[in-house]
Amino acid sequence: MAVERVSSNYQMKSLTGEEIRAAFLNFYEKRAHKVLPSASLVPDDPTVLLTIAGMLPFKPVFLGHVDRPSKRATTSQKCIRTNDIDNVGKTARHHTFFEMLGNFSFGDYFKKEAIQWAWELSTQVFGLDPKNLVVSVFREDTEAEEIWRDEVGVDPSRIIRMDESDNFWSSGPTGPCGPCSELYYDFHPELGDLNIDLEDDNRFIEFYNLVFMQYNRNADGGLTPLANCNIDTGMGLERMAQILQGVPNNYETDLIFPLLEKVASLIEVDYQALEEKKKISLKIIGDHTRACVQLISDGVSASNLGRGYVLRRLLRRVVRHGRLLGINKPFLIDIAEVAIELVKASYPQVLERQEYILKELQREEVRFLETLERGEKLLNDLLASKPKQISGEQAFELYDTYGFPVELTEEIADEHSLKVDLKGFQNAMNQQRQRAKDAVNTIDLTLQDAIEKVVDEIGETSFCGYNKLDQQGKIKAIVVNGVSASKCNVGDKIDLVLDATPFYGEGGGQIGDAGIITGITSDSLDTIVEVDNVRRIKGAFVHSGVVQSGKLHLGDVVEAKVNRFNRKCAQSNHTATHLLQAALKQIVDSEISQAGSLVGVNRLRFDFHASEPVSSTQLEQVENLINSWITEAHSLIVSEMKIDEAKSAGAVAMFGEKYGETVRVVDVPGVSMELCGGTHVANTAEIGVFKIISESGIASGIRRIEAIAGQGVLNYLNERESVVKRLTSLFKAQSNEVVDRVIALQTEVKALNKLLIKAQNDVIASRALTLVDQVISIRNSQYLIKRLDGMKGDSLQSMATRLLDHLGSQSAILLGGTPDPKDSKKVILVAAFGKDLIEKGLHAGKFLAPIAKLCGGGGGGRPDLAQAGGRDAKTLDSALEFANKKLIELLS
Ligand code: ALA
Repeated sequence: MAVERVSSNYQMKSLTGEEIRAAFLNFYEKRAHKVLPSASLVPDDPTVLLTIAGMLPFKPVFLGHVDRPSKRATTSQKCIRTNDIDNVGKTARHHTFFEMLGNFSFGDYFKKEAIQWAWELSTQVFGLDPKNLVVSVFREDTEAEEIWRDEVGVDPSRIIRMDESDNFWSSGPTGPCGPCSELYYDFHPELGDLNIDLEDDNRFIEFYNLVFMQYNRNADGGLTPLANCNIDTGMGLERMAQILQGVPNNYETDLIFPLLEKVASLIEVDYQALEEKKKISLKIIGDHTRACVQLISDGVSASNLGRGYVLRRLLRRVVRHGRLLGINKPFLIDIAEVAIELVKASYPQVLERQEYILKELQREEVRFLETLERGEKLLNDLLASKPKQISGEQAFELYDTYGFPVELTEEIADEHSLKVDLKGFQNAMNQQRQRAKDAVNTIDLTLQDAIEKVVDEIGETSFCGYNKLDQQGKIKAIVVNGVSASKCNVGDKIDLVLDATPFYGEGGGQIGDAGIITGITSDSLDTIVEVDNVRRIKGAFVHSGVVQSGKLHLGDVVEAKVNRFNRKCAQSNHTATHLLQAALKQIVDSEISQAGSLVGVNRLRFDFHASEPVSSTQLEQVENLINSWITEAHSLIVSEMKIDEAKSAGAVAMFGEKYGETVRVVDVPGVSMELCGGTHVANTAEIGVFKIISESGIASGIRRIEAIAGQGVLNYLNERESVVKRLTSLFKAQSNEVVDRVIALQTEVKALNKLLIKAQNDVIASRALTLVDQVISIRNSQYLIKRLDGMKGDSLQSMATRLLDHLGSQSAILLGGTPDPKDSKKVILVAAFGKDLIEKGLHAGKFLAPIAKLCGGGGGGRPDLAQAGGRDAKTLDSALEFANKKLIELLS
């Protein structure tokens, strides 16, 4: 009899992406690593465009330029790499956007611990079997090889020496670097240890890189030893998910697959049924949409320069691949919504900025679709004339006039086996850049580009809004619908830069001011611009709004008036945020440090590092303390001083924030002192009252408190009151009776539920009896395989258990079906094996796994009872057929 047996002690865990992330951070947190949030994709480092690795935010720490945040840290870092863009979708594991899990030592532990922990995490936490693991070491790094071999016990034939091109890691042409050691997963250990080729993508996947960061590479290429030996590591979250979820590529993991399914549903096809080329388009759309969403969330807007261009290029590739699939209308929002849904728990700021992200995507997509249509026609005409290649000028015209990124032209040309003259394209591009320099105010640039161009000439805006809420200023730049202009008219959506303004520009967590700008010259007396936000771009304060009446010209002098009510509310919230940090330090833990904040008109939010939730008693104490500071009416003292002076006076700075030589210090004497550029009340009494609304965890080791102050509290009370009014009217009761009514209702629902479950069980029991005749006997055993649609997993389990009870310990049951009439693809499978069969070595979980795989899923369970899910109901019948053969084999 064929029997499946457990072959080793390692049980690979089937974990979701989120579970993998949490397990990694938790493992290192337990080993004294500080869990830090992902830094922005826009790095604070002029040498790189985007955050390309988990170590990037720590570059200054490795180089000893700033104090270390702690001795050890661990993060899950958002990254974007565009060097692999051509491989996206074509290989199983290349991405533009991905998440890198990392553990870092800043002059603390080194090779030995890094290697031992990496092994322990991989084998004990994720349950990878050592027979599936291979490690690589740098050719000259005998020490690392010895640790792997002698201390960890890795078989020497599975330690591969690699040369510098593979096992020496650096973040760029200059900067911190060092030899590294990588862990690979071997999908086919049965192929043996001879001729191991780690480049063989079909057999191996590199999933964890340990960098022993010891050097700084200088501009001349030489290596200078760093003051400390550091550790930088990177585990690809998507890669680990592929391994643990047993899917053929990163794209089919729970981190990305829902995006592909969404695209498939838009074109009304089944993903698995698609031909390979179309699958690639789906994968590109999924990958790039994730990247676009995160880029916009981190403040990048589409443009023709730098990271703005990366965003534009990705977004246009998505649209273009949508077209290849036959989608001719805007669809990006549909996909982006799924992308946001997938990351909202781990990156709550993406959810917060959802509306903005979707708006940006839609704007850029519509714009591109219009030009694309015209451009495609031009390109098709060109291709029809069967040229030898696409010339530089033609590619440039497509780029300049029709918005085709040159890579897109290359891609389309490639489909016709044609090349693009890239050198010619670059020449044309350089000429255009020169023209742009000469005529900065007239060319078509996006807002960011337009402002960046003019700001060098017009200088930074002088901000006078700490003390004044209205002020005259001269218009230095006008941008209408993203295009620099010399004037604007009624109805125009504009961005204005003034030489001086009282409007606060979004920054330091505080939102930008709203208000109005009015004309004061004789021909602009009736001009009103409603400003809804102000941002800072390279020191210029950019007022965004709509011209409600009249018109304005470059050089006009205008009156800028901040909305007083909104500003006062934001100020109250900002000072209250400082009080909140001070109160948390006093009541919860003096080590609490800020991880982020948002100060708006209606509410405030404060994120901080803490390993445990703040208890409700502590929250109450925090709230009381803050309200007492408010009542005590402390006057604030705001001053400028040298950074060292501020730090020695005890001013609180935020880790990772860049501060200049001279800093602004906001002091609530005896209560709080922080470095801050925001606007504040003059006296704490202006805040009125403070209330905490919620406390929650937003990532491992990071808590968030949401609160309101002043007018916000009154709004909150009014809302609450209307809820109570509605409840009393629904229950026809007094407000003090509502709680008792709810309890009575809950008790009733519980009793009804019990009855319902009993009734369902009775139905299942009688249905089970009707199946007994369909049992097939083999020797002394019997089995039943049955498709039952419309039943949820727990009902199938209870049906299987009942049948087993009825048929006895020599029986095997397999039930499968589609549980949800609304989701025709979903499959549930349940297997139950009797005691005697288990004693003979049969295992329901192991039996079920390959069957579930046939249905596009996975899962498993205990020897006696197992449940699995799948995504491909079309293959269910053939999977049951396969199970039938398998059972006959096992029972014969
Ligand atoms: N910084 C290393 C990498 O990106 C861990 O592979």
